Amino acid sequence: MMENTYQLSEQQINHIREAVDIVDIISGYIPLVAKGKSFFGVCPFHDDHSPSMSVSKEKQIYRCFSCGAGGNVFKFVMDYENINFLEAVKLLADKAGIPIQIENKHAPVQKKFQSYYEVYDLAFKFYQNNINTALGKEARTYLDKRGIDSNIIKEFGIGLSLKNTEMLTKLLLKKEYPSKLLIKTGLVNENEKGFHDVYYNRIMFPLWDLEGKVIGFSGRIYQNNDTAKYVNTKETEVFKKGELLYHYHTAKNEARRLGQVIVMEGFMDVIRAYTIGVTNVVATMGTAVTKEQALLLKRMAKEVILCFDGDEAGAKATMSCSNELLKIGVTPKIVRLEENLDPDEYILKYGKEQFVRKLENPINIMDFKLGYFKNKKDFSSNNDVAIYVKEVLKELEKTDDVVLKELTIQKLSQETHLEEQFLKDQLQEQKEQPAFVLTPKTNVKLTKYEQAEKNLIYYMLESPEVIQLYQKHITYMPTKKYRLLAVQIACFYKDYKCIQVADFMTSIQNNEELTNTLNDILALNLKEEYTIDEIMDYIKTIHEYGVKFQCKRLKEMMQMEIDPMKKAEIGQKIVELRKTEMMDRG
Ligand code: UTP
Ligand code: MN
Repeated sequence: MMENTYQLSEQQINHIREAVDIVDIISGYIPLVAKGKSFFGVCPFHDDHSPSMSVSKEKQIYRCFSCGAGGNVFKFVMDYENINFLEAVKLLADKAGIPIQIENKHAPVQKKFQSYYEVYDLAFKFYQNNINTALGKEARTYLDKRGIDSNIIKEFGIGLSLKNTEMLTKLLLKKEYPSKLLIKTGLVNENEKGFHDVYYNRIMFPLWDLEGKVIGFSGRIYQNNDTAKYVNTKETEVFKKGELLYHYHTAKNEARRLGQVIVMEGFMDVIRAYTIGVTNVVATMGTAVTKEQALLLKRMAKEVILCFDGDEAGAKATMSCSNELLKIGVTPKIVRLEENLDPDEYILKYGKEQFVRKLENPINIMDFKLGYFKNKKDFSSNNDVAIYVKEVLKELEKTDDVVLKELTIQKLSQETHLEEQFLKDQLQEQKEQPAFVLTPKTNVKLTKYEQAEKNLIYYMLESPEVIQLYQKHITYMPTKKYRLLAVQIACFYKDYKCIQVADFMTSIQNNEELTNTLNDILALNLKEEYTIDEIMDYIKTIHEYGVKFQCKRLKEMMQMEIDPMKKAEIGQKIVELRKTEMMDRG
């Protein structure tokens, strides 16, 4: 069984799941219509109008045949409400009237890094204290000039590292933290003279993890100085820049409430937005957006608005962030700021009202991309126009939105004076060239062994009888992902003496690969009744593969062997193996 890092036991979680009916819960969000054994509704997880989502009362799971979304009641609530697993458990427990006490503590992890958090917390307090002393006067003046008052300083935990390069190190060593640990935290360095602070003479902006614990800093120069503008704490086991977003822990509630999250590049931008009451904002902190960050954004809110710097680098970043989001099914809206201004500068120059108006009128992703490709092109040159058309058509392929496609084709036709039909044909032609296809889920033909593995697992999820047959006959499934899943199912069965798909899903939910494999198998939708003969057929097919594989290996060994006695022995083994294969078939 997967390790459960929550304070609730798996039994308690399963109990909550059993106490609610997935059909009731989902129909509280979207209308469902009964049809045969299942219920159907319009999937809320992709843009659709036809009822492609089915909900099974019997299995207590749901599945969308169009976008592939699927899972148990927890998964549905998590995705619909944009909340995490524990929040979903809590919500459903409340609905079922089951009192539970949960704190989102990943206990073992927390312990392991406890001393890191303590060190960052001490540093945080140390820096914060400095800025309020006489030594912080110049820094305070700098911040004041930038319109950052003492309330904001406090709210964002802004601090100051001093000119003296030993203060923090001394403090931490006095508290008896091992120097090795201090170096690992990225706050302390060592040279010939001994240990010293990494940060000196910088305004310190704390960085938080998703739960709001300080896990590092970004230090900004504030005097004329030609060193790097910002210095970030190095990556540690608790600080991975690509896995977090600046100010996530504070922004997430407001983003959820409004159903919208705004993304900026710099944390000064976030702080400025905050001062005018725009608080559903996070920052990427100047690096290319990763898949993890895109997934975080997707979880925060349905609507994602990118409001990056107005310069060319900002446009480039908008482009790459959009593509990362599109890959996971999020179509962001775009705000572009004039005069190369970043949001901070824009707000200072044009004020709250005008900035909010910009946010309220974002442009759609295709219009942004058209503008992006048009930039620096000379439309009197056929060459440039041809490149432009190709670029736009390639982008169009990435979107599933047919209306947007149609509108864009119209625009493109007006701009280039090419016939709409011609452009559509080009788009179609491009699609037919496999090299250009963006790897949508193609139906790769499975081998008969893989098909047998999948079918066997499908029925293992239906009945303990099949699990027992698997345990009795199968020692090894040839395909790794099916093997891992089958082993997990057998373990689950061993623990619970029954198999309930919806609970099994909970037990593997932290493992994306297993979950995907499971969803893929559930999508087979095989007939409900099976015969033992069918099951035994699958098992034989899987055996046959094992035998073939072993025979192949033995034959190779035989060829290499020089000792005639040993050669004969191997030959005998092959004969015996073949016999078992015949028996299986018989
Ligand atoms: P910017 O250069 O746009 O900074 O970098 P900014 O937000 O406008 O900051 P100010 O207004 O000059 O103070 C955007 C983000 O890139 C990261 C920081 O996280 C910053 O918020 N960055 C930038 C660095 O990590 N190091 C740097 O040297 C510069
Ligand atoms: Mn700036």
